[in-house]
Amino acid sequence: MPVSPFIRALPKAELHVHIEGTFEPELMLEIGRRNGIALPFTTVDEARAAYEFSSLQDFLDIYYQGVAALLTEQDFCDLTCAYFDRVAGQGVRHAEIFFDPQAHTARSVPFATVCHGIASGLQYALQRHGISSRLIMCFLRHLDEPDALATLETALPYRDMIYGVGLDSSEAGNPPAKFARVFAAAREAGFACVAHAGEEGPAAYVRDAVDVLHVQRIDHGNRALDDPVLTAELAQRGMPFTVCPLSNLRLGVIDALDNHPLRRMLDAGLMVTLNSDDPAYFGGYVNENYQAMQDHLGIDDATLGRIARNSFLAAFLEPERRNELLAELGIYCAANGWTTWAS
Ligand code: HPA
Ligand code: ZN
Repeated sequence: MPVSPFIRALPKAELHVHIEGTFEPELMLEIGRRNGIALPFTTVDEARAAYEFSSLQDFLDIYYQGVAALLTEQDFCDLTCAYFDRVAGQGVRHAEIFFDPQAHTARSVPFATVCHGIASGLQYALQRHGISSRLIMCFLRHLDEPDALATLETALPYRDMIYGVGLDSSEAGNPPAKFARVFAAAREAGFACVAHAGEEGPAAYVRDAVDVLHVQRIDHGNRALDDPVLTAELAQRGMPFTVCPLSNLRLGVIDALDNHPLRRMLDAGLMVTLNSDDPAYFGGYVNENYQAMQDHLGIDDATLGRIARNSFLAAFLEPERRNELLAELGIYCAANGWTTWAS
């Protein structure tokens, strides 16, 4: 998918990317080899051939197998650096990275190893590429709440490295309300809160993410559109949505990119952003997601500029950094003839 020059250099933030989902087969095979971990495939072609999913669960089953190659601080650092080297050429100025600690601690990889490794990668991103970042720790929703509470407890000494908490993994049958207490405790401890909701689950899960978990952003949220009252309320409140079109296609959330709900979300006045989710598995990084929406829904450059602006407004940024990025975006869009919203 050729990315246009406008999209390529458009300054943007990525707010929905799982660092374990950026594990490209080349690096996975290399790290698997050096750690002596057998993977379900032995070549890059075999890996890509295995990446055919008909549901979120299908994908997660393969995703957790790949994760098993990661053992050392260096592994987590290499993974993180590789993502930032990739998106540095995509206009990404700031990224908020999810990680799944329980997918590692369950394999006896210490929380500290994961956290320090990723944090080294984030430092590299800032020094090498000038990309700022936040780290968001996700609870696996297929596990129980006591496991999530124990994970939160483990994370408390790393409070200065972890900005927020999220909720991911198998959505159907695992409603947000299952995690009401752990999110309350996380909020109490000062973590920002986000959650995946309305990807495969119903609009009621989006409602509960907002009303019960008190999230500051909805990850995906496509199914919110099934409830017009909820949609109007979230539009009015300016609740950000981190939308991931190529993920939606590859996981069967939509049947074709031409039918992606992004246009309807924009028309409903929702504050949408565009993101990659698990780019090593879904056929594109953030810019390919922007391009896909232009190609399939005819979203014009001015609107993509507005979506990039949303990404800075919805990011967990210090005011100075936010203003700096908005100013850079304003100059970029003015140079391309789009000035109406870029203040
Ligand atoms: N959805 C839910 N959980 C996930 C995903 C996703 O797309 N990627 C990694 N964990
Ligand atoms: Zn996700």
